Amino acid sequence: MTRAILGGEDLGMQVMDGSAAGDGATAPVAVLRLDGARSTLLLLRRFGGLPEIVHWGSRLPPDIAATELGALRAGDRPHNGPDQWEPCAALLPTFGGTAFGQTGLAAFRDDGSAWTATFAVEAVEEQPGRLVVRAVDHASELELRVELALDDTDVLVMRNTLRNLGPAALRVERLVSGTVILPAAVEAVHTSHGAWGQEFGRAAMSLAQGTISVESRRNRSHDHFPGLAAGLPGTGDESGQAWGLQLGWSGAHRFTAERLEDGSVQVMGGEFLHPGEVVLAPGEALETPPLFAAWSANGFGGVARAFHAHARRSVLRWPAPGGYGPMRPRPVLLNSWEGNRFALSDAALRTQAEQAAALGIERYVLDDGWFGGRRNDKRGLGDWHVSPAVFPQGLRPLADHVRGLGMEFGLWFEPEMVSPDSDLFRARPDWVLHVAGRPLRTARHQLVLDIARREVADHLFEAIAARVDEIGVDYIKWDHNRDLVEAGDVRGRAAYRQQVEALYALWRRLAARHPGLEIESCASGGGRADLGALLHTQRIWTSDNTDALDRLRMQRSAFRFLPPEVCGTHVSASPNHQTGRRSSLDFRAAVALFGHMGVELDPRTLDADESETLARWIALHKRLRPLLHGGHCVFGEDTPSRVLQGVVSPDRTHAVFLLAATDWPPQRRPHPVRLPGLDPARRYGLRIPAPVDPRWYQPSPDQQALAGEGKEFGGALLSEIGVSLPQMDPGTAWILECQPA
Ligand code: DGJ
Repeated sequence: MTRAILGGEDLGMQVMDGSAAGDGATAPVAVLRLDGARSTLLLLRRFGGLPEIVHWGSRLPPDIAATELGALRAGDRPHNGPDQWEPCAALLPTFGGTAFGQTGLAAFRDDGSAWTATFAVEAVEEQPGRLVVRAVDHASELELRVELALDDTDVLVMRNTLRNLGPAALRVERLVSGTVILPAAVEAVHTSHGAWGQEFGRAAMSLAQGTISVESRRNRSHDHFPGLAAGLPGTGDESGQAWGLQLGWSGAHRFTAERLEDGSVQVMGGEFLHPGEVVLAPGEALETPPLFAAWSANGFGGVARAFHAHARRSVLRWPAPGGYGPMRPRPVLLNSWEGNRFALSDAALRTQAEQAAALGIERYVLDDGWFGGRRNDKRGLGDWHVSPAVFPQGLRPLADHVRGLGMEFGLWFEPEMVSPDSDLFRARPDWVLHVAGRPLRTARHQLVLDIARREVADHLFEAIAARVDEIGVDYIKWDHNRDLVEAGDVRGRAAYRQQVEALYALWRRLAARHPGLEIESCASGGGRADLGALLHTQRIWTSDNTDALDRLRMQRSAFRFLPPEVCGTHVSASPNHQTGRRSSLDFRAAVALFGHMGVELDPRTLDADESETLARWIALHKRLRPLLHGGHCVFGEDTPSRVLQGVVSPDRTHAVFLLAATDWPPQRRPHPVRLPGLDPARRYGLRIPAPVDPRWYQPSPDQQALAGEGKEFGGALLSEIGVSLPQMDPGTAWILECQPA
């Protein structure tokens, strides 16, 4: 409600009437809500602004009256504050208004206009499980579309679209994908930090006042996974309220968590836009990538399970000859990298393939080094033709040999890159991302191609498609081994986001041309491990660090966001190539068992005993695969000396746990192991399946029985009392399997 200002009529100025809280400007008009199986997102729509976020948490009763909710949320006017009441937390916080937290939108026109946005809702579309709010700011000539969807996985999917309604270009510096509000009791957010070889770390950052901002600007996310989590004080892995967010985007990103004036915590996530990246011509729109947000009353594990259920249902697409179909059992693979590096030879690879098939391996992936002059990492990227020096007959004979052994054939590419020492760069030096007048900056001796240019994308598409056809490639490992630095396009503009869009377009094109082709998203390990990439690919390479001890916690953290069946987990050689640490084959295999299992060593180096042991672990993985790749992940104890991770079948009849010792326990007798997620009313047979050899010291007869026939226990006792097991040596792991008694 406004009235004209005395003397200001000629200027069209009006004063906002803020005489009473709950007046026409703020009176509620409608409750908007979305319900998941156990959660509710509740918004309150008032005249004059975007809906206010009132609740995102446990499921609320139906029929909430707008007047009642309005009365509950009738804000007073703080001392020395504005005369017009505004909620602290709108769907998209903007410059302008009196909500002084971080904004989700920053934009302007060259004449300085449109820097504030006060949106008024024009339409709300309500469909089952989906809400679309369309709002306009007529003064700034902007249109906003907020899309929200919530299904029974309890994952809220958010996306914003901003349209320039004005007559001049609009420069957009920030548009987040979504905003959520967490209760004031939240004291910390858990971010996922890292570096090459150390992906998926976990750090709790305490939120006193002010803002925590986590930003990644290199188009690879080793430094910060694009997601975070938060819980109430006392929330653990399997209890208490928890929230999690992750962005479906493989480029630069930014998350903020901020304590607002009313103590609640505003969390936003979205793309990070480099200066000048988004300029909207009149009528043009910017649509953000999706932000996935999960709530659970069952701790961080509940959030992980919600993310997994949502990804399985709505994100992952499994190639099938006629398009997409259900997930096929994830083939155990052999990856040639650590076993061969660049020293490739046709004869050696054939023998390795034969030995891999004998181990039970189902997919054989030829990694870096098969093309052009690529005999080391200093040259050859971009020349995607089979090296006649290494494969005089081409690669088809090797691929046929692999298929003849009953395995699929996979091939490594790093399409977005070019080596300065390559035929492609010599022919097309202008194709690389760069800033004119600045020296080209290499990383791992390579440069980045501007794949948003049609001719570059066409060239890559044709080269890859031709090799897939000629050789018969079932699977591509798609790598990306450097950060983007000074990534300017041919017009001299920052090209980080268009690079990601062009990548997704290339993946879509390949999927259309080669239905059935699977792709692994690798970026020196887990630098491109996000739900944006997984909308187009079927696997991520979790980390170049394959050391089982490091992988134990890395995988546990990765599983907090991503389902295990898409996370590559390999058995590699000892001593480990990255850390130099020695570990037993059993320990390495037990840790690799829980994701998309693979082997990354030269099988010729295994002696007969080792080959037999590895074959038995692969057989165990195959037997447990439906459970491991379709069950519910549970997160047991995680102490400095012991880690427990598990998977329980959806009907809770079958469960498998990994119990790993990382150090000596502080006490002489280890405390009982409690197995989460079991049905308390069910009886289970608990055993340690072959080929696990517990090698324990003086076990009791009951403990001894676990490694044989097994013992029967009630689910409630296994979860609440726990099973006493002998002390384990550091660097050892046991598998515990629960089956119907
Ligand atoms: C980095 C990847 O993460 C490795 O697995 C391997 O493919 C190398 N690149 C090859 O250059």
